[in-house]
Amino acid sequence: MDIERCKLIELPVVQNPQGNLTFIEGDRHVPFPIERVYYLYDVPGGATRGGHAHRALEQLIIAITGSFDVIVDDGSARRKVTLNRSRIGLYMPAMIWRELINFSSGAVCVVLASAHYDESDYFRDYEEFRAATEAG
Ligand code: TYD
Repeated sequence: MDIERCKLIELPVVQNPQGNLTFIEGDRHVPFPIERVYYLYDVPGGATRGGHAHRALEQLIIAITGSFDVIVDDGSARRKVTLNRSRIGLYMPAMIWRELINFSSGAVCVVLASAHYDESDYFRDYEEFRAATEAG
């Protein structure tokens, strides 16, 4: 199943009494070159983000502050992953539908992406996405 390819990645932490430091290197800690970084913040309670899949884009999703749930769906199976640690990222391969829900107050979601923004890489319609998967 493709959702098995969505993996939690434990990121390096340099621990210090003065605070912790985590770093991420493209092609090393994530299996892709990092071409873009974006972040979601000030998400109102009850809001849903995502609601799409990507044809080719790979991403790493991190709850830098606070927590939220990511629903991952490969067209045939669906799973919920809770993110609430700044040293754990959720690797999202291509062709996975995702919905981000249950944002805690003040949560910040950082996303590392393998390519620049390209609207033509999106599936924004679930049925169209599903039809393009093996299940469809
Ligand atoms: P979208 O990817 O749908 O956001 P989310 O999955 O968090 O709900 O993007 C929302 C809007 O922001 C959409 O109009 C496209 C724009 N956008 C960019 O211009 N650049 C980007 O890197 C991203 C991620 C989105």
